[in-house]
Amino acid sequence: MTAMPVKKEGLCCDRCRRTFDSSEQYLDLTLTSGIQQKAYQRKEWGGTELFRSPLVSFAYERGWRQGFSWAGFPGVEEEYDLAMDYLAPAYGNILIDMSCGSGLFSRRFAKSGKFTGVVAADFSESMLQQARSYFKEDGTLGGRTPITLLRADVGRLPFKTGSVSAMHAGAAIHCWPNPQAALAEISRVLKPGGVFVASTFMVASAPLGQAIGNDEIFRPFNQVDPTFLAARSQYKWWEEEELRDLCTSVGLEGFTRTRQWRFIMFCARKPE
Ligand SMILES: C[S@@+](CC[C@H](N)C(=O)[O-])C[C@H]1O[C@@H](n2cnc3c(N)ncnc32)[C@H](O)[C@@H]1O
Repeated sequence: MTAMPVKKEGLCCDRCRRTFDSSEQYLDLTLTSGIQQKAYQRKEWGGTELFRSPLVSFAYERGWRQGFSWAGFPGVEEEYDLAMDYLAPAYGNILIDMSCGSGLFSRRFAKSGKFTGVVAADFSESMLQQARSYFKEDGTLGGRTPITLLRADVGRLPFKTGSVSAMHAGAAIHCWPNPQAALAEISRVLKPGGVFVASTFMVASAPLGQAIGNDEIFRPFNQVDPTFLAARSQYKWWEEEELRDLCTSVGLEGFTRTRQWRFIMFCARKPE
């Protein structure tokens, strides 16, 4: 979207004339901008709605996120280092931290001094509020690297086609309502050579597949994965091959990944 400023409160799309809210806290460029309290609810948005809870946003960095270690997530510092390695080709540009949650990675990306700006984007109003208060607390807001808080839906990104150098999405793709549509949007907005880096949870058989170097043998068991069944309504756990297919299907290439137990971080790029 090319947006032009209107009044102090928001932005107006110069194509559809729709106006969008903006507050002290963040800029809201979602379709629900200004109408959050109305009746329309999307049922299939389980993984999105859960994180709009102020309680979940409060608990997120106070224990919730650390709990991902059960699946082999190595922890924020190590994940940050890994992501920075994958993002190296985009140093010197603006980085979008999509589905930033409470901003645990956005803060570190901004402090690294490797990017000219960081956009901390999420659908959850309460996550953005929580992120803002952490940014203020530790001085990231107003620091050397400009940081923008943006409310955005990954399925409808408010960025121009071919305008983004780098996007990171930590532990989020399993929560998105339509990952394929989201990946297509991400591919649309990436510049030629642009980098996409994401982490997520893999299916329960992933450690076995990794041990013998063949995930495919275990595919039938993934249908009866009890953790998958329990969480079925909200999250999707991934096979590496699915993530690879997803990237290829939206025109991203050079898929590489790091795996540990049920944790995977992967990277793919828009062709030059
Ligand atoms: C598990 S948290 C991950 C937070 C952080 N990136 C991390 O690595 O810990 C998943 C995030 O995805 C966000 N999310 C879910 N659906 C979304 C959507 N449709 N568009 C943008 N963000 C979404 C949630 O609000 C939540 O903050």
